[in-house]
Amino acid sequence: MIAFKRTALAQELVAALQGKALLGDAHNGLFLAAPRRTGKSTFLQGDLSPALQAAGVVVVYVDLWADVRRDPGGLIAGAIARALEPHLGLVARAAKNAGLDKVKLGGLEVDASKIGKVDGLTLNEALRLLHESAGKPVALIIDEAQHALISEAGETAMTALKSARDQLNRPGEVNLMLVMSGSDRDKLLRLVNTAAAPFYGSQIQRMPPLGPDFIGHVAGLIEAQRPSLQPVDLALLLQAFEIFGYRPQFFMAALGQVLSPLADVAGRFEPALLEAAWRQQAQDEAQMASDYLGLKPTEQAVLWRMLEQGPRYRPYDAEALHFYRDKTGRPVSVTQAQKALEALRQRMPALVWKSARGEYALEDAAMHRWFDHLAAAGKWPPSAPQGQLPFDDD
Ligand SMILES: Nc1ncnc2c1ncn2[C@@H]1O[C@H](COP(=O)(O)OP(=O)(O)OP(=O)(O)O)[C@@H](O)[C@H]1O
Ligand SMILES: [Mg+2]
Repeated sequence: MIAFKRTALAQELVAALQGKALLGDAHNGLFLAAPRRTGKSTFLQGDLSPALQAAGVVVVYVDLWADVRRDPGGLIAGAIARALEPHLGLVARAAKNAGLDKVKLGGLEVDASKIGKVDGLTLNEALRLLHESAGKPVALIIDEAQHALISEAGETAMTALKSARDQLNRPGEVNLMLVMSGSDRDKLLRLVNTAAAPFYGSQIQRMPPLGPDFIGHVAGLIEAQRPSLQPVDLALLLQAFEIFGYRPQFFMAALGQVLSPLADVAGRFEPALLEAAWRQQAQDEAQMASDYLGLKPTEQAVLWRMLEQGPRYRPYDAEALHFYRDKTGRPVSVTQAQKALEALRQRMPALVWKSARGEYALEDAAMHRWFDHLAAAGKWPPSAPQGQLPFDDD
């Protein structure tokens, strides 16, 4: 296993979060989207967190997928409480020594006997307490932040964070930095895109994928270990990495296979790697096609509409209902469309994601790319391989 450090990107984001970048709005919250398995969590924990700490910031990291059964608000509060623990110990001891039963921290009066337990404090108070007791700015990094939107408790937590940000930050002084990441831009958009959204006005940024510098690093390792392979063809390696969807795990696994002494590779390993990448892509797309073809007609129509509309998707407007009717060849009622959406959501793995407000998005954003490909090539909808008949609704 290799870990490639992304120091420059981390430094850039630290400056932006501190409000030091000339342009940009990261001090109001940084929203980062990147597809699944492209290294978001690794970057946030392995690069961004240490860079923030080195800049004198207390970092709280929480992954809302860590336990999907727990309420996101509770997960966030728990992470803040853990960060508070070491500081509160000091404060509590000082208070006890001075014979105080109440401690004043910033604008907040805290019962000394309750210090150490964050229960009963709002997220806002807990963050302020952390900031005051550490005497440093606080960065709260929320991985898979879109998950907060599927419950009302999660939405409330997001609103509370927005209000904490507004209370703790002033122009020229950033005391609470918020970083939210997710694998799907459309879902993260729900945090920022309507006047009612908690972070209305913020932009979603694409977290840059690993690129040529990562490939250069890997090539250097290969050349060091296997001098006979010098020089490694960087362009072919990069091309394979792109086809693997910039996902280091799949790339490294395939690389390990073609470089293995047991591999049945005649000639150079780079073309074999590229072939493995094409194979994987074909496999992924065949899986999506087979998932799609296995759906009932109404489910197919609903999914088709979502693929075509992206973030503009409205499940039950007149145009959507007309579209469903057009594709299935019979009228589709709101109830039937709802039932189809629900079925797509309940599948394992789920194809559709739903927010607490009843907005829908595709669970796997990679389906959009697959759809765009086929549509551009005039090959949409996918057709069943011979001998396979589509199911009927009834
Ligand atoms: N900088 C890196 N150098 C080497 N390998 C990496 C790097 N970043 C990520 N990886 C590898 O890629 C895989 C996915 O990384 P990670 O879990 O960080 O991605 P993610 O985008 O958070 O994925 P998910 O969508 O599943 O949450 C892991 O196996 C990890 O080891
Ligand atoms: Mg992750």
